[in-house]
Amino acid sequence: MSNSPKEILKKAVEDALHAVHTPDGRSIVAAGIVSAVVIDGDKAGIILDFGDTPPADMEALRLGVEKAATSVEEINAANAIVTANRKPSQAAAPAAPRGKAPPTPVEIPGVKHIIAVASGKGGVGKSTTSVNLALALKALGLKVGVMDADIFGPSLPMLMGVDERPEIKNKVIQPLVAHGIKLMSIGFLIDVDQPVVWRGPRVMGATQQLLRDVAWGPLDVLVVDMPPGTGDVQLTMVQQAPLTGAVIVTTPQDLALIDARKGLAMFRKVDVPILGIIENMSTFICPHCGEASDIFGHGGAQETANVLGCSFLGGIPLEMSVRQNADAGTPVIMQEPDGQPARAYHAIAGQIAKSLTR
Ligand SMILES: Nc1ncnc2c1ncn2[C@@H]1O[C@H](COP(=O)(O)OP(=O)(O)OP(=O)(O)O)[C@@H](O)[C@H]1O
Ligand SMILES: [Mg+2]
Repeated sequence: MSNSPKEILKKAVEDALHAVHTPDGRSIVAAGIVSAVVIDGDKAGIILDFGDTPPADMEALRLGVEKAATSVEEINAANAIVTANRKPSQAAAPAAPRGKAPPTPVEIPGVKHIIAVASGKGGVGKSTTSVNLALALKALGLKVGVMDADIFGPSLPMLMGVDERPEIKNKVIQPLVAHGIKLMSIGFLIDVDQPVVWRGPRVMGATQQLLRDVAWGPLDVLVVDMPPGTGDVQLTMVQQAPLTGAVIVTTPQDLALIDARKGLAMFRKVDVPILGIIENMSTFICPHCGEASDIFGHGGAQETANVLGCSFLGGIPLEMSVRQNADAGTPVIMQEPDGQPARAYHAIAGQIAKSLTR
């Protein structure tokens, strides 16, 4: 994936950004200010993070960044967003503004339940699981939406094969709809055509917007695909959204399990119930003979769940078709409804749905 046309373009934009300098003469790339570059066709979205020391001429820098990005031949429009106050080294610090109590979650009109799909560690399959579980919940007759809370690495557009601009009516963002579920992701919004979406300058604001400024209702379940980790963004999300509960995705490797424990701890700290743990990539199904083997070990999530006193929701096998369909924007549960992964997603969705009616 590293040299797809999009990746090449992203690299070209990043290279062009080296030409923009901070007031103290460093390149903004070297200064660590460029926090994300997202390419969407001929448009580039750039997130700048000035941490605790935003310069006085921030706007000039922002414009300079947009100009540098559009100097790349294939890029016709660029939108730079400025954020501040994120210190990765202080990831465990409270997300609330200093001196204020954490935000109290406010109901989202017309949304009955919100479920966060989280993990302590990246790349364990949260996004893939979110999308397939959402479709499985829909198959149970529920009205379902998926919100991609990953501001820095949105994956919903790719996973659902959707690349459209949402409509904005009276400042309310209309979710996109695919396979009968409502979708929203920063990946749909980073765009110069509709800068109104980005009036809030901060990433936390962006997360808020995805929750509050989107016409989600009526929904039985909103599945929130969380960004990896247990830092500020996650904590704020957990504090801002009236979560019914959280599902923790993990892989069988020991390290991922340790991280899963961190994820659990974060939700428990704010009294969000854990609906259970899912072990993703739990067994490897050979694409040729269909035989199952435990290349990563197996059953660790079950043990962790036992130790931590929460439910084990089930395992999803590691199967090439899950990945291939994720890359192709055709969730495996739709594409191979009788396959083992689809069956596993349906079984897990059934358990989740049960805990929602309680
Ligand atoms: N059960 C599975 N079998 C095979 N491949 C899988 C499975 N689950 C996920 N994958 C693949 O693993 C990769 C990571 O998955 P995904 O993007 O869903 O993880 P994530 O936890 O959301 O990552 P991030 O932390 O970056 O948001 C993807 O390429 C996906 O297609
Ligand atoms: Mg993800």
